[in-house]
Amino acid sequence: MSGSRISVFGAGYVGLVTGACLAELGHTVVVRDVVSAKVEALSRGEVPIYEPGLDDLLARNRDRLSFTLGMREAIDGAELLFVAVDTPPMYSGDADLSRVWTVIDELPRDIDGTRPILVMKSTVPVGTGEKVRAALDGRGLGHVGYVSNPEFTAEGSAVRDFLEPDRIVIGAFEAADGDRVEALHGTLSAPVVRTTVPSAEMVKLASNAFLSTRISFINEIANVCELVGADVTEVARGMGLDHRLGPHFLRAGIGFGGSCFPKDVSALKQLAGNSGYHFQLLSAVIEVNELQKRRVIGKLQKHLGRLRGKRVALLGLAFKPGTDDMREAPSLVLASRLLAEGAEVRAWDPVAHASELLPQVRICASVEEAVEGADAAVIVTEWEQLRALATPEIRDLMRGPLIVDGRNVLDPTAVRAAGFAYEGIGRPTSPFDILPETAEREPELETGP
Ligand code: UGA
Repeated sequence: MSGSRISVFGAGYVGLVTGACLAELGHTVVVRDVVSAKVEALSRGEVPIYEPGLDDLLARNRDRLSFTLGMREAIDGAELLFVAVDTPPMYSGDADLSRVWTVIDELPRDIDGTRPILVMKSTVPVGTGEKVRAALDGRGLGHVGYVSNPEFTAEGSAVRDFLEPDRIVIGAFEAADGDRVEALHGTLSAPVVRTTVPSAEMVKLASNAFLSTRISFINEIANVCELVGADVTEVARGMGLDHRLGPHFLRAGIGFGGSCFPKDVSALKQLAGNSGYHFQLLSAVIEVNELQKRRVIGKLQKHLGRLRGKRVALLGLAFKPGTDDMREAPSLVLASRLLAEGAEVRAWDPVAHASELLPQVRICASVEEAVEGADAAVIVTEWEQLRALATPEIRDLMRGPLIVDGRNVLDPTAVRAAGFAYEGIGRPTSPFDILPETAEREPELETGP
């Protein structure tokens, strides 16, 4: 198929990756966003987000990519209109579809082309496609097709995930519309799941909810491992070799974050509730995740006693490595809990900008600056640079040599041999881990007024 003319609504993580990858596949793409600073920056060739490989892809496909604020410019001649705006959680936990509806409401009635197709990339509740279909019909846009084509790209590997997908899911009301979206993917070799619109919508939500369930499950196993002397990393390795389980998403840690899992688990739970079903399992997945983010506090208290006046270095702030995204990052909850305990918090991240989100935290330019004089260092995000944290230089900079490895990326034996006390998540502790100065101390309990 020769290149199609495509418009993409939304220049966020999903929209930019979708636009750049579709251009890479040979299509001509106009990305439309309502934030003028973003559109201007992109037009100048600047990429407003950190996503590995994206800047190269945008630069390489400059001739086939443009950015605009204008609806008319975006849709003129477009054969396919991808909706990739964000659908953040509302206070109730339901997905906020206002940006999706704004795009649909703004579509002009005289939209041309034989049969332009609206392709939903944004993650939406099951049933949204049917509502959009009815709205389009009601507005005299019955000639506009509708296809659900959820995205399964993870931040940090989004370009590769798009160009080398595990599967392409296409839910269409009209088979011919689905055929056209399938053809767009041209040379990508992946199983294509052709299904109904509600099923395609559910594939997305169920996939994210299941991955989140695996994480909360392994985190609970980790918490039990701590009580019974097992090591969750060994347990996960043993479990993952069962082909029915597989090794993925079994890394215990301080909980999942990001713009997708917390939002989608909650959206699926609310969707079920709104439809008359109480999805018990997802309530537990959410609660386990909330508690997991806070468990580091207990680990620090075990070694340091009261945290008031103690200096703690948070290493890594983004919700995972390979991204600058701070949305729902566990670091935010952890930093706030530490501050509430009266600790002094320093933090370092190689790409995330967090000074506005964490005004009371001193953001440091290097790991060394963050750990200087610290009573403990916590690995919050498993950036590659942190794998070599346990050096004599770092130990000498710290006031107390305690490392809490919130992502289980360090080798406990090597860390202890380098003179640090080590605490992982779900890993056995060593009697030598309790720092001498705190070991003899009675635990300091807060007393009432
Ligand atoms: C996730 C999905 O992986 C994508 O398939 C999906 O397309 C995307 O959401 C979306 O809905 O747009 P993402 O949120 O970018 O992608 O990140 P993940 O790599 O899935 O990680 C999510 C969180 O889970 C991170 O905080 C990570 O640290 C945590 N995690 C992941 C664990 O705690 N343990 C694991 O074993 C794996």
